[in-house]
Amino acid sequence: MSASTTTNPFHQQKPIPGVKTILAVSSGKGGVGKSTVAVNLASALAQTWNVGLLDADIHGPSVPRMTGTLAEKPNLSVAQKLVPIRRWGMQILSIGHLVDEDSAVIWRGPMLFKALDQFFFDVAWDNLDILVIDLPPGTGDVQLTLAQKIPVTGAICVGTPQNVALADVKKSIDMWKRVGVKVLGVVENMAFFVHPDTGETLDLFPRGDLLGYLDQMKIPLLAKIPFCPQLAKLCEAGIPSPEVGSSIPPSNRQEKEPAQIFRELALKIGAALSLSTPSSTCAAD
Ligand SMILES: Nc1ncnc2c1ncn2[C@@H]1O[C@H](COP(=O)(O)OP(=O)(O)OP(=O)(O)O)[C@@H](O)[C@H]1O
Ligand SMILES: [Mg+2]
Repeated sequence: MSASTTTNPFHQQKPIPGVKTILAVSSGKGGVGKSTVAVNLASALAQTWNVGLLDADIHGPSVPRMTGTLAEKPNLSVAQKLVPIRRWGMQILSIGHLVDEDSAVIWRGPMLFKALDQFFFDVAWDNLDILVIDLPPGTGDVQLTLAQKIPVTGAICVGTPQNVALADVKKSIDMWKRVGVKVLGVVENMAFFVHPDTGETLDLFPRGDLLGYLDQMKIPLLAKIPFCPQLAKLCEAGIPSPEVGSSIPPSNRQEKEPAQIFRELALKIGAALSLSTPSSTCAAD
C-alpha cells in the first residue's frame, strides 16, 4: 500500500467492516488531552452502545496504558484479521499492542500508511455501533489518510482554554471542513480547576475567546472538563473514569465528577451520530 496518487483521493473511501459509525478525536496541538477524552468518552459510550477504540497515534500510542492493556496482544482470526482486545466493555486496538512503546516512532511514509491501512481494514471489529479513533496531534498525514480512506461520521476537537490553544482548535476545525468531515463540537479540557479547600473555581490558563469563535462557526461546545488530578491518576492506572464513577472520593466541591461529564458527553455524541439505543448493552467483558 502506498500513498494515494489518484486525483480525488476521497473516492477511495471504504467502510470498515463491522463498524456503523466512526468518531475521530483530534486536536491541532499535542498534550491537550485527546487520549484522555477518547478513552473516557469511549468508556462512557460503552455503557449504552457497542464501542471500539482505535489508537491511530502510531508514533505515541497512549491507549494501551490508559486502558490497562499494555501487556495484551491481539489474536488473529481465522480470516487472519487482528482481533481487538476486550476490556472495560470495549473492543480496543493500538499499535502499542503490536510493538513495544518505543519501536513505532520511526515509521514514516509508506510504512506508516501500510500500518494505518491494516488498522482500518484488517481488524475483526465485532458489530460496533461506534468506533472512536484517538488521533495523533496536528493536521498531518494520519488525519488526511483517515479522511481519504474511511467514512468518518464526525469529529470532535479537544482544546485547552488559552488563546494559543484556540489557534490550534481553529486549525483542526478548518482541516475537517476541508476534507468534508462534520465537526460535532469542541471539548474544552483543563477548562478550570476547583480549589480543594475553598471550592473556588479557578482558571488555569488565561482565557481566549473560544466561545465567541464557536458561536461564529455554529459549532457547539460539547463539554468542559476540569483539570482533575484524580482523572490523571486513573489514566495512569489504566482505568477509565466512567468505570469507577461515584467511587471517586469527593475530594473537592466540583459540581460534577469527570465521569459524569463524560457520560453526558457520550449521550450528546450518541444523539449527534443518531445512534439508536440497542436493546442489549455491551456489558464489561
Ligand atoms: N482534565 C485533566 N486533568 C488532569 N490531567 C489531565 C487532564 N487531561 C489530561 N490530563 C493529563 O495530561 C497528560 C496529557 O494528556 P493526553 O495524553 O490525554 O493528551 P494528548 O492530547 O492525547 O497528548 P498527545 O498529543 O501526546 O497524544 C496526561 O498525563 C493526562 O493524564
Ligand atoms: Mg494522545
